[in-house]
Amino acid sequence: MAHAQPPIPVTARSRGPLAGRVRVPGDKSISHRSLIFGLLAIGETRISGLLEGEDVMRTADAARALGAIVHHDRPGSWRIRGVGVGGLREPGGVLDFGNAGTGSRLMMGVCGAHPITTVFDGDASLRKRPMRRILDPLELMGTTIVAQEEGGRVPLTLRGPKEAVPITYRTPVTSAQIKSAVLLAGLAAPGETTVIETEATRDHTEKMLTHFGADVSVSPDGAHGRRIMLKGQPELQAAPIVVPADPSSAAFPLVAALIVPGSDILIESVMTNPLRSGLLTTLREMGADISVESEANEGGEAVATLRVRAGALKGVTVPPERAPSMIDEYPVLAVAASFAAGTTRMRGLQELRVKESDRLAAVEAGLKAAGVICAIEGDDLIVEGRGGEVAGGGLVATHLDHRIAMSFLVMGLATRQPMTVDDGAMIATSFPSFVALMNGLGGDIA
Ligand code: S3P
Repeated sequence: MAHAQPPIPVTARSRGPLAGRVRVPGDKSISHRSLIFGLLAIGETRISGLLEGEDVMRTADAARALGAIVHHDRPGSWRIRGVGVGGLREPGGVLDFGNAGTGSRLMMGVCGAHPITTVFDGDASLRKRPMRRILDPLELMGTTIVAQEEGGRVPLTLRGPKEAVPITYRTPVTSAQIKSAVLLAGLAAPGETTVIETEATRDHTEKMLTHFGADVSVSPDGAHGRRIMLKGQPELQAAPIVVPADPSSAAFPLVAALIVPGSDILIESVMTNPLRSGLLTTLREMGADISVESEANEGGEAVATLRVRAGALKGVTVPPERAPSMIDEYPVLAVAASFAAGTTRMRGLQELRVKESDRLAAVEAGLKAAGVICAIEGDDLIVEGRGGEVAGGGLVATHLDHRIAMSFLVMGLATRQPMTVDDGAMIATSFPSFVALMNGLGGDIA
């Protein structure tokens, strides 16, 4: 397990309008998957725009331990020579995923379906997160759980079967990670593996399966759901990948520009995949001034350069079915809602309790520390907007959660008193350049 680092408190204070043009780093979900598909393909996969955050670096280390040859050529530019489906090497040691839920869960799908023994571990946050949701389908596919912490948590040891069994699986909770883990396991199984989800989640795994030459088909299922069918044991072929800018990281400068009076910024080439765009929809409903300057396509994903200008926001109700398309953006939406006029109700947030921290509790505590009236009712978060005037001045506990840290630092750029988070170290898991980028726009984060 990663050794605990001493906490690094960070403070944000208001210093006038934000201005300028920025590009945020590559998408975390696509970055993890690029390395995983590179590992499972024959030949050399070239990746540009890879997010070089700590989470993704753990996935690169795991890919190496499983037999891939990984080269880092220039910032963002990587090459990975894979071993092919069925060709994984048994690692000599523990696969330590640090803080990374996505890397660990997707790799469990990969490793659990191969005839090797693998040990997964991570930091204190990952050690609290539920893995049963991945182990359940893997057991149906023939994986043995040799060892696990209580309730199916890391550290845990998987032993894959000689040949995995294909399954049809309806995901019990709406989660792209569960869907992806089952599909990745299905690569090693003969015959057809099917995943059914009641609400559509981010589709990066399906797209990448097609891109690397697998036979995969997607059809609608029910009102909002999808059925994904994969033919097992394909020979995946290396394919070039361009990683677009991460909309979940763009959310931070975006909300900052909305709430710091007088701000006017451009955020370049943000991925606008509709399964990731719930925050944009919601902020526009709140009256946010966000316009599209230009549109393009990067690596098979639509991207747009966004112009964001500060202005009055109003409270809205966010429906539960929108949650999958903005699941990581609720903390920073709650910050925007604090500055809106009126009440914002965010519905159906049960999954927020099992992220890098219990984000429902962490957001509620942070908002209260800043003098914002808010409440959790069942699985809903209700924020009473202050109409532009938020006191701030609080100390926020981040619980090893990068998005809690960044959300409340964004808040501190617009509150009357500075906001301090107890630890900014975890920001490096997803957005290492966050402080420099925000300060480059005129922020004051130190
Ligand atoms: C992710 C899926 C989501 C999201 C996470 C990345 C992915 O998790 O919160 O940051 O890349 O598949 P869940 O599958 O748990 O909803």
